[in-house]
Amino acid sequence: MSADQPRRIKLGLIGSGAQGRYLSEAAAIADAFEFVACADVRPESAEQTARECGYGSTYADHRQMLAKADVEAVIVATTHAQLQPCALAALQGGKHALVEKPMALRAAEGRELVEAARAAGVNLMVGYSLRFMPPRILMKRLLEEGVIGEVRQVMAGQCIGAMGGWLGDPAQGGGPLFYIGTHALDQILWVVGRPAERVCAEMNRAEPGGCETEAMVNIRFEGGALGQLVTSQTFGGRYGWLDVLGTAGRIRVQWESDVLTIQSTVIPEYANLTEITVPPTAYLPPPGYDARASLRSSAYIRTWANELTEFANSIREGRPPSVSGEDGVGVLEVLDAAFESARTGGMPVGR
Ligand SMILES: NC(=O)c1ccc[n+]([C@@H]2O[C@H](COP(=O)([O-])OP(=O)(O)OC[C@H]3O[C@@H](n4cnc5c(N)ncnc54)[C@H](O)[C@@H]3O)[C@@H](O)[C@H]2O)c1
Repeated sequence: MSADQPRRIKLGLIGSGAQGRYLSEAAAIADAFEFVACADVRPESAEQTARECGYGSTYADHRQMLAKADVEAVIVATTHAQLQPCALAALQGGKHALVEKPMALRAAEGRELVEAARAAGVNLMVGYSLRFMPPRILMKRLLEEGVIGEVRQVMAGQCIGAMGGWLGDPAQGGGPLFYIGTHALDQILWVVGRPAERVCAEMNRAEPGGCETEAMVNIRFEGGALGQLVTSQTFGGRYGWLDVLGTAGRIRVQWESDVLTIQSTVIPEYANLTEITVPPTAYLPPPGYDARASLRSSAYIRTWANELTEFANSIREGRPPSVSGEDGVGVLEVLDAAFESARTGGMPVGR
């Protein structure tokens, strides 16, 4: 950081598991933070992360960290059911917070975070990192330029293999809807850009009271646009997609692909189905990058660095972040309705 760049933001981490370490690595690339302290209920994990990522002190209790360490902003990357209480404590303590998705398990708990951030005058950002993936940044720009006209139908999916550990435990916010479905749902809401009005969902579960194994959620938006979310943990791998249909064409992007597909009836350049490849440099670590933490893969490190840069810039510029707490609540409102719709059941056929 050169002398004329703004000072670093004093950063704390709550939850030093896999994602907490990735985000710390991304924060190092964003080059806007001082690594002050990290907390995890597993002290050995906090200590390892502090050693590898450069945090100055460690805590086994996030409340101790918030009370004692000189931090201005925190990343919250705990297990799902702990995200909301940890973020609430940070916001009430006057810290800016980047909270991993899903931010809370119910919309009402999410609204408490939005209210706490407002009351403390700090920023609340939610970790919907797909918005920072290079092909999706390009997609959003093309949509805003009107290349496919008015968006009318959006289909998005995010699928994964069988989920175990805390991710298989409903009490801890497990299941594919919270873990990866929220990403796809946020993408749908981001692209449509209007409030959801009505939801109809079907879900399968391996056992009553267990996490969903497969889910499909149909959404109607104000103005009549329609969305459809697909998620699964029975899919034998990882797959994600976003298909946007407009009044003048279509755009598709796919998980782990740097190719965007477009066809437009109003832009002659895209009259035929056209593939636009995002250059690999958009993904790769910056030149001279020297990983602090032992990352297994850095495929998304630029995406998370983009996210951390936005978090830092929003704090420095005193403006709301581009992915707001309200955006996180919007996702949870649809999920609340989807769980209720699946519970109460759809219209029987042929009876
Ligand atoms: N945006 C993305 O691309 C992305 C990718 C993976 C995971 N995530 C999200 O990151 C979060 C963490 O996932 P993960 O894969 O790192 O899980 P993980 O199990 O590897 O890590 C979670 C950590 O939180 C700690 N923890 C639990 N309760 C805590 C508390 N009260 N205080 C402090 N620490 C606590 C656990 O000990 C563990 O170390 C989840 O919200 C997940 O959805 C986001």
